[in-house]
Amino acid sequence: MTASGRVKLKPGDTIGILGGGQLGRMLAMAAARLGLRCQVFSPDPDSPAFDVVLNATCAEYADVEALELFANDVDVITYEFENVPAATAMVLDARRPVLPAQKILETTQDRLIEKDFVKRLGIGTADYADVSSVESLQSAIARIGLPAVIKTRRFGYDGKGQAIIREGDDPAQVWEDLGTKSAILEAFVPYEREVSVIAARGADGTVECYDVTENEHRDHILKFSRVPAAISDELAAQARAVAEKIAHALDYVGVLGVELFVVGGNGGPHVLVNEIAPRVHNSGHWTLDGASVSQFEQHIRAIAGWPLAKPVRHGEVTMTNLIGDDILDYEQWLTVPGATVHLYGKGPPRPGRKMGHVTEVVPASKK
Ligand SMILES: Nc1ncnc2c1ncn2[C@@H]1O[C@H](COP(=O)(O)OP(=O)(O)O)[C@@H](O)[C@H]1O
Ligand SMILES: [Mg+2]
Repeated sequence: MTASGRVKLKPGDTIGILGGGQLGRMLAMAAARLGLRCQVFSPDPDSPAFDVVLNATCAEYADVEALELFANDVDVITYEFENVPAATAMVLDARRPVLPAQKILETTQDRLIEKDFVKRLGIGTADYADVSSVESLQSAIARIGLPAVIKTRRFGYDGKGQAIIREGDDPAQVWEDLGTKSAILEAFVPYEREVSVIAARGADGTVECYDVTENEHRDHILKFSRVPAAISDELAAQARAVAEKIAHALDYVGVLGVELFVVGGNGGPHVLVNEIAPRVHNSGHWTLDGASVSQFEQHIRAIAGWPLAKPVRHGEVTMTNLIGDDILDYEQWLTVPGATVHLYGKGPPRPGRKMGHVTEVVPASKK
């Protein structure tokens, strides 16, 4: 029987969450509202998710004994980050259902495997090539052209582990600076906008997608999400269909975020998949205040074996990330009419650190 087939939680049951950041914290808060408990596993004693749960395990992901004790205490296990080590997931999976399933991590932890997977589904991506040496980088550049983006296959986030290569750059230097043996080269996509789809898939295979979100990054970090995205209904339907197809093909249970580029060109605008996040996603934080049910609750429902909600959006929504020193303005945000403030309870602000976010909703009736 598959992991999802084995899970049917009751109120009072316990969910184990790997990772103690803001995503784990918001998952635990959503679970609490549904009468479910959470136990958080994180190696970082300052994990913001620890503050909102009764039971926490502070141990390394390689600590087999701690993982076993954690698994014994919970009824199902999920995660807030995609880089869960395979060995960790295996130890846990032998004891309790892990959702989304462990095999999904193999696809989404590696940009090359992920892109191959998306391509096999007949879904568009940027042109890309496997790069494992200066020589293969040179032939990839010859085929794909410049500008292009080189990305490490694994462990990249918030623009880390990637660089743009432009005409005149020295490939040998780029390769040395990247400091890896496995990367991909992608054609630079001259996108009109960046959008994402937050999709939930239940244990019964039902998929519910939120409205397409438009995302604006600053220094490679998400700064604003706006919903609905300023795209046609046809294009929005296309984006949602792509996310749904991916969710089915992965036999996914839980919430996933699909990042897409909107590009113009022959035949009108269309979408290309940039990457898949097998977890709740920053561009879905607006759903906490802008929809009847949040992405966090949808994820909890899915992994609990409960029915998904049909989320209803409350209006036009803007989500603003409070990054680094932005958090110092929290008192000002508290006084903005209509704004809902979320502070993650993290320690000192550091540049690029996600410290909180603010949602503003313009109700549909006031448009
Ligand atoms: N092929 C590309 N063409 C143009 N811009 C890109 C391309 N790949 C990434 N970017 C830009 O860099 C950002 C981060 O890249 P992404 O692949 O999403 O990595 P991550 O979010 O894991 O750091 C994207 O949101 C986009 O703004
Ligand atoms: Mg991204």
